[in-house]
Amino acid sequence: MQIKGNVAIVTGGASGLGLATTKRLIAAGATVLIVDLERSNGAEVAAGLGHGTEFAAANVTEEDSMAAAVAKAETMGRVAILVHCAGIGGSKRVVDKDGAPMPLAHFANIVNVNLIGSFNAVRLASAAMAKNEPVEGERGVCIMTASIAGYEGQIGQTPYAASKAGVIGLTICAARDLASRNIRVCTIAPGIMDTPMLGRLPDNIRASLAASVPNPARLGDADEYAMTAQQIVENPYLNGETIRVDGALRMGFR
Ligand SMILES: NC(=O)c1ccc[n+]([C@@H]2O[C@H](COP(=O)([O-])OP(=O)(O)OC[C@H]3O[C@@H](n4cnc5c(N)ncnc54)[C@H](O)[C@@H]3O)[C@@H](O)[C@H]2O)c1
Repeated sequence: MQIKGNVAIVTGGASGLGLATTKRLIAAGATVLIVDLERSNGAEVAAGLGHGTEFAAANVTEEDSMAAAVAKAETMGRVAILVHCAGIGGSKRVVDKDGAPMPLAHFANIVNVNLIGSFNAVRLASAAMAKNEPVEGERGVCIMTASIAGYEGQIGQTPYAASKAGVIGLTICAARDLASRNIRVCTIAPGIMDTPMLGRLPDNIRASLAASVPNPARLGDADEYAMTAQQIVENPYLNGETIRVDGALRMGFR
């Protein structure tokens, strides 16, 4: 599908992978609505990017604020692209060193943001796309963000890995559901990308993470995620698949 002339909703677009994707989609001729938390710097980011870029404050876990964000995108033009990058991490073992079980709320929160938030974005964006007249047989494309932790979760990652495995699982199913609407659904599973999410780690941990990647032995660049998102939008035969972008990394247990 051609990017130029379409409106793209980029959740988590104020930072990291979402911001890199926003920049790439603007360069390819899309008008972007950044959807991010109220407390994010999304408004400043959108104003700085120009090219009609707008910001909607919304929490991906909420029905109302996300529906309002999608409605705002519809006022900007033909909503045909969703790149859903909003997500959170978090590290906690099932049983901690003092023998206490993980609070259920910790698990539920990560699954709520990463998995239920992904479905919320896809269901609302695809309902908007379904109203489009098809162009070259397509009404729209939804891209979600999993993680290689959805395949090989490490120690401390049970909620994160479960949430991302859920995203991987819903990809083919949503693609099948939306096939009759001519809307494609794919997911990107990044390895270790150099974003503010990883920037919070100490330098020695970042260096050892970089060295653990077979080739190239470095952290991934956010634009390498964005390049993949662009390819998914542009290549009409990519559908129902989760694509790893990880330099051949297969996670060890820690
Ligand atoms: N950076 C990595 O190495 C890496 C690897 C694998 C997967 N991922 C996934 O990629 C996605 C983007 O990560 P990133 O590295 O760009 O992180 P980031 O922290 O730089 O950006 C995430 C953005 O999502 C927003 N966000 C968080 N919760 C939200 C909510 N409830 N509603 C709306 N917006 C919300 C944040 O405000 C932030 O702007 C996440 O889903 C993450 O799990 C990242």
